[in-house]
Amino acid sequence: MVDKMLNLKRTHYCTEVNEKDIDKKIVVCGFVQKVRNMGNLLFIDLRDRTGILQLAFNAQTPKETFAKAESVRSEFVIMASGTLSRRTSINKELPTGELELLVSELLILAESETPPFEVKDDTTAREELRLKYRFLDLRRPELQKALLFRHQVTAYAHEFFNKHGFIEVETPDLIRSTPEGARDYLVPSRMFPGSFFALPQSPQLYKQLLMVAGIDRYMQIAKCFRDEDLRADRQPEFTQIDLEMSFVDEEDIMSINEQFIAELFRKTLNKEVKTPFLRLTYKEAMERFGSDKPDLRFGLELQDLSDIVKESNFSIFKEAVKNGGSVRAINVKGATDLLTRKEIDKLTDIVKTYKAGGLTYTRLLPDSKTSSYEKFLTEQEAELIKNTLNAQDGDVILIVADKKDDIVLNSLGNLRVHLGNKLGLIPKDQFNFLWVTEFPLLEFDEEENRFVAKHHPFTSPNFEDLDLMHKDPAKVRARAYDMVLNGCEVGGGSIRINNLELQQEMFDLLGLSKEEANEKFGFLLEAFKFGAPPHGGMAYGLDRLIMLMLQKDTIRDVIAFPKVQNSRDLMTECPSSVSQSSLAELGIDIKK
Ligand code: AMO
Repeated sequence: MVDKMLNLKRTHYCTEVNEKDIDKKIVVCGFVQKVRNMGNLLFIDLRDRTGILQLAFNAQTPKETFAKAESVRSEFVIMASGTLSRRTSINKELPTGELELLVSELLILAESETPPFEVKDDTTAREELRLKYRFLDLRRPELQKALLFRHQVTAYAHEFFNKHGFIEVETPDLIRSTPEGARDYLVPSRMFPGSFFALPQSPQLYKQLLMVAGIDRYMQIAKCFRDEDLRADRQPEFTQIDLEMSFVDEEDIMSINEQFIAELFRKTLNKEVKTPFLRLTYKEAMERFGSDKPDLRFGLELQDLSDIVKESNFSIFKEAVKNGGSVRAINVKGATDLLTRKEIDKLTDIVKTYKAGGLTYTRLLPDSKTSSYEKFLTEQEAELIKNTLNAQDGDVILIVADKKDDIVLNSLGNLRVHLGNKLGLIPKDQFNFLWVTEFPLLEFDEEENRFVAKHHPFTSPNFEDLDLMHKDPAKVRARAYDMVLNGCEVGGGSIRINNLELQQEMFDLLGLSKEEANEKFGFLLEAFKFGAPPHGGMAYGLDRLIMLMLQKDTIRDVIAFPKVQNSRDLMTECPSSVSQSSLAELGIDIKK
């Protein structure tokens, strides 16, 4: 039997009570965390979104209230009224651990079946089970805290950008399919059978059109949809803090965003972030860290050995350089004990997953050394390698050679991060921001055998490189920048093309004919005919930013209702089939 709320009204959230409320009559409500029945004494831990308060029932409690308390189980929804008192046995773990409510009246507002897992932070329940019952999972304090924190960040984003003259404009979610790199989610049209809307991969073109429309400074907390393979930091639908500004250059955009981040961290985490952020060009980031989103919380930088070994007798090294590739190394300081031959075999498997042929090494033991390559080199070459790497006894040198430089960089970059984690070199509780700038405008897609935009097709080339656009497109740098935090790309943006000819030239380079470009992006090209101010912007991956701020391992932990690896929602069990009549209305026939 459940009770009605009658005339009771909540007076306090569980952890809002304090010493000053002792002896006052208060009313609290929430979920039952735990019941401890000791016969003539009974305690209920009551939980609401602020935390826990102990409810006490004893010999003075009215009989029917005590009896009702005995029927209460975990996760029942209750309301209790009584007098706040000092506890006899203090619980130092709880903020309200010195207080309890001596209950006089108890209402059971909703019963609960035995939950499939206990609602507590150190749960051992499988994530699949937790996601199926996400409404219970979300009752856990950790997730409550994450949602509250997320709210504080978006609230502050609104406050900050409002203060700086940005106007929030909502852009549509049913749009023309204009792929930006990932696969689109398509929505069939009932009015136009055979035609489709797409869900936006980002509001990119709309925010540019808003600049053409004279909005000048735009922001939006925007939902984006990308049908791509998921990872810990990727969801098929995710949220951006999306920004665009007119009459600005890179510096303006970077500096206002540094200010935003510094103020956000101060306000929400009470942490100081140093500004301006370090800046690395893409080239430098790749060469030093093997990554365009380097984690600078630890060293293990890459070193180029190509010049030293290009004439050597070791064909793997020599051929790599001769064929336009490189030979690069990492020196793992004092790691001979940890990086045994067997361990190095495991590291070899790791670089192989990034397409490297193998990993050569030298272990500099104090009285001997083992090396997989030194026997092929002259003493002078081996010595030069050690000097370049500043290698001493106890160090382990790891080398990758390949005729493709990007394979060398990428495999060593990933090995570096693996070693950073494995050797405990990455300090926790540190927030290391940087900008990566001067990205290449284009990258060559081997599968499609053509250039694709590295950022997106609306990013402006660096004006100094305009003459390379047709001569050597791979060398053209973009006016693009990424904000990187602890080895994760938290945001990215660019100065855009705002002129018809250059935009068409860019489409040309991407292999889009005039007709195709018109078909896909005609509305943008049309807008550029009517005065487009110079503009640029960026977008933060809000989920990623929150994940890193709260030091979580996956963005699923900061999203209320996330999807799993294969993009399914386990709670509502979708995607799901729909009725024949719905399909017929859309003119869709499903192939069996
Ligand atoms: P971009 O594609 O780099 O740029 O996206 C901006 C930021 O969004 C985050 N992000 C994701 N987060 C979770 N799941 C995903 N699948 C996912 N994909 C991207 C990243 C990324 O840095 N319109 C441009 C921005 C601009 O140029 O202004 C854009 O969307 O943190």
